Amino acid sequence: MKLENKVAIVTGAGKGIGKAVAIALAKAGADVLVNDLNLENANKTLAEIESLGQKGLAVSADISQHDQAKAMVEAARDTLGSVDILINNAGVSKPSMLVNMKEDDWDLVVNVHLKGIFNTSQAAARIMKSQGWGRIINVVSTAGIFGTIGQINYASAKAGVVGFTKSAARELGRNGINVNAVCPGITKTDMTQKLQEDQALCDLYKSRIQLGRFAEIEEIVPIFVFLASDNAGYITGQVLGVDGGYIG
Ligand SMILES: NC(=O)c1ccc[n+]([C@@H]2O[C@H](COP(=O)([O-])OP(=O)(O)OC[C@H]3O[C@@H](n4cnc5c(N)ncnc54)[C@H](O)[C@@H]3O)[C@@H](O)[C@H]2O)c1
Repeated sequence: MKLENKVAIVTGAGKGIGKAVAIALAKAGADVLVNDLNLENANKTLAEIESLGQKGLAVSADISQHDQAKAMVEAARDTLGSVDILINNAGVSKPSMLVNMKEDDWDLVVNVHLKGIFNTSQAAARIMKSQGWGRIINVVSTAGIFGTIGQINYASAKAGVVGFTKSAARELGRNGINVNAVCPGITKTDMTQKLQEDQALCDLYKSRIQLGRFAEIEEIVPIFVFLASDNAGYITGQVLGVDGGYIG
């Protein structure tokens, strides 16, 4: 699964799944624009990419802001030469029950997860269309497929990303652009830290996972490299679960 001469953008790559994916893409030969709100973390990821001999760029754009996202995508083209692979990974969680949810928490989560993907993908698709080749890979969640309790903003946004993925795949397929989504199960990152500390909740969720455990970040990564590669050239419009056999 070689990605030589490809330029990738990974959003939210300062830590967690995004960081691991950015480094894996670089190991496969891609140059990588590392995006994160936290520039210090983005620079740390970039340093690891450069130590592998790849080029890169760290950009602290807020992907929920249309102009910032567009400028970031264009910076990848102008600085690294093209935009071949876009990994829409950045995310935020503001849990609350529907009856208690603050409007701001609804707006933040929907804007980052759903509008953010529109912002980055529109700018990237314009460039990919002119190149005749591209890969857009969105990160969704079992919450958006099965529903969940206490994260209705997050589940709704992720379900929206499923619709976005399937629609963009239909629109862009004839331009050589494949659009897919990866659906990780519960993965040991900062986002799930509170859950990991709650033994009763851990037991409940693990009882719904056929492998009986949460994922290590490294277990989520390989499918991104595969989907970005030429080996996945006939796969588009799919939501691929990497969830240990989660039963919703
Ligand atoms: N961890 C899990 O169990 C799990 C499960 C399913 C899906 N996901 C999804 O995987 C993705 C990565 O999650 P993670 O667990 O690695 O989370 P994380 O909190 O470790 O990392 C998320 C990163 O996104 C960045 N970010 C947040 N808002 C941003 C914005 N507006 N612009 C740019 N960057 C922004 C953060 O600064 C952070 O570095 C998210 O989309 C998340 O919803 C995670």
